[in-house]
Amino acid sequence: MTYQHDFKQSVQHPEEFWREKATAIKWFQEPKQILTQNAAGFYRWFEGGQLNTAYLCLDYHIEQGRGDQDALIYDSPVTDTIEKFTYRELRDKVAKFAGVLAAQGVGRGDAVVIYMPMIPEAVIGMLACARLGAIHSVVFGGFAPHELAVRIDDARPKVILSASCGIEFERILPYKPLVDKALREAQHQPNAHIMFVRSQQPETLDGPGEVDWAQAVEHAEPVDPVPVDAHDPLYILYTSGTTGKPKGIIRDNGGHAVMMKWSLGATYDTHPGEVFWAASDIGWAVGHSYIVYAPLINGCTTILFEGKPIRTPDAGTFWRVIAQHKVKTFFTAPTAIRAVKKEDFEGKLFRKYDVSSLKYLFVAGERCDPATYDWASQLLGIPVIDHWWQTESGAPMLANMAGYGLQPIKRGAAATPVPGFQMEILGEDGSILGPGEEGYVTIKLPLPPGCLPTLWGDDARFQQSYLNRFPGYYLSGDGGYKDADNYFYIMGRVDDVINVAGHRLSTGEMEEMVAAHPAVAECAVVGIADELKGQRPVGLVVLKDGVEIASDVLEAELVADIRAKIGAVAFFKTCIVVKRLPKTRSGKILRKNIRMLADGVHFETPSTIDDPSILQEIKETLAQEKVGLAFV
Ligand code: COA
Ligand code: AMP
Repeated sequence: MTYQHDFKQSVQHPEEFWREKATAIKWFQEPKQILTQNAAGFYRWFEGGQLNTAYLCLDYHIEQGRGDQDALIYDSPVTDTIEKFTYRELRDKVAKFAGVLAAQGVGRGDAVVIYMPMIPEAVIGMLACARLGAIHSVVFGGFAPHELAVRIDDARPKVILSASCGIEFERILPYKPLVDKALREAQHQPNAHIMFVRSQQPETLDGPGEVDWAQAVEHAEPVDPVPVDAHDPLYILYTSGTTGKPKGIIRDNGGHAVMMKWSLGATYDTHPGEVFWAASDIGWAVGHSYIVYAPLINGCTTILFEGKPIRTPDAGTFWRVIAQHKVKTFFTAPTAIRAVKKEDFEGKLFRKYDVSSLKYLFVAGERCDPATYDWASQLLGIPVIDHWWQTESGAPMLANMAGYGLQPIKRGAAATPVPGFQMEILGEDGSILGPGEEGYVTIKLPLPPGCLPTLWGDDARFQQSYLNRFPGYYLSGDGGYKDADNYFYIMGRVDDVINVAGHRLSTGEMEEMVAAHPAVAECAVVGIADELKGQRPVGLVVLKDGVEIASDVLEAELVADIRAKIGAVAFFKTCIVVKRLPKTRSGKILRKNIRMLADGVHFETPSTIDDPSILQEIKETLAQEKVGLAFV
């Protein structure tokens, strides 16, 4: 089948297209209907189907004779460990740990929060939830206790899983104080906190509800997979929206399994028995889909990497892993490639390894800038494929799909829509824009299987955030344009979301925190361009009348506050005092123009601006403080 054929079929006859794709997974009970709408009018896939995602990831492959193949390779340069798990070994560990959870009262439909570093137990915890029909919610280990508490209160887990520490480069980060603090802040209290104690950070677990992972496993009975409905949630993954309250993206079992099964072959050209590596974190959607679910559902070997692209121990670490484990397909973020490029521009470390197994490098998380693309493709001599997706989709929406045979690669473009995603660029008034015209990146409904069916406990927010702006279309929150060949160019968010080193963060949330400082009358937090991280947040504050505080003192307080509340990943390091903020006559702060000033991007002064002289004032302050690529 050609890409063109499948794309056409997927948008003209979505039910037939996905009915056929659904035959690739083993259902306990076949779906009765392919596409339906619920009472709220939201689309649902595979009504009446019954399955178990952990069964598809593990037991199914053992039945097919893959029991002795490596399912998971844990490669941890920070602990100097490499550990391999066959499908059978992983299944046995998951089944036993499911027994631990069941003994704590976890069953179908119960939520479990997982706050863990990149260790096998994190994957075992996720799959054990799936085996029971429970709903996991993984919280990225880089988030601070406040963020964990917010997620605990929203997901209302029966149990929380953690480990005694994470390891960042050479630093041991004890997790217990973080979990304890989050539990003190949260209103909701789980029944149990099961902790995997790592040798790097011993802990005594004697508080109420505290359970030692290893001891509990010793006494546990293995559990068989529990059939669940296709519509039952497999997981909730919180992602940044425009306010302090994160959005709980739901992934259902049925649509997700079908999409994961199909996409690994169709988009990534990776097949049973081959080695796939997504150098992401299980705290992000990429980690859920392409470290855990898609490679395992497809009978591949997946790599769980506990390290960074650099300094673990050096910028050759990616190439060492690829050579050592014979990776065919590698997925990372452009920011990680930039980090490697900075430290090994000549490729001296790269040349130490035989990476002949590698056929593709896929990048996502932010736009792959042409300089990064050029460097990586020249160094590697293989296709470097930018593709676009979101936590909401759980799978690529735009990609040069290797499984159909690659189309020409265009630098700066995320290529063409993946079958199932009927993308349109819409103007302010909802009209469909043509090639070269920049507007809102949207997808005509229905979204294909695996995309969020709604937000956890919040249909109204789902409707309002994604569906109301352009009826009949999903609003991605990104802006961009397409060219005459239907290649799409994603140019960045049109809302208060930024991407810092591949981490999705809300400037709206940071703004709420800055605004809460007693000295601050009003403020704006904007994402400005950063050479390494893609974007970084910068605060601009106007002081309250009569308040006297040195700007460096205020900056230090706000930096510490955001680090403590959101976490170090927020990378909020700069906050400058300005006299006034530029606004429209209706009082809306012109954040986009502040960002463009810092980035040195030319723009016409907006006609709606209240006082154009403020833009000049801001420009002078940014220049004086050397904030922004335009001024360094
Ligand atoms: N647990 C605890 N802290 C964490 C963490 C985690 N899981 N991840 C990051 N942090 C901390 C870091 O230690 C750092 O703290 P510091 O300010 O005290 O040094 C801070 O958060 C910022 O981390 P990070 O954004 O990762 O920057 P870095 O300078 O440590 O590394 C890169 C830069 C580019 C190497 C790294 O960001 C990277 O590999 N990014 C790719 C991310 C990715 O793959 N995302 C998935 C998208 S598909
Ligand atoms: P997340 O939900 O964390 O995966 O972040 C999704 C956001 O990251 C998107 O809305 C985009 O803004 C950005 N993004 C992801 N991949 C790309 C890409 N290939 N090109 C441009 N932006 C991207």
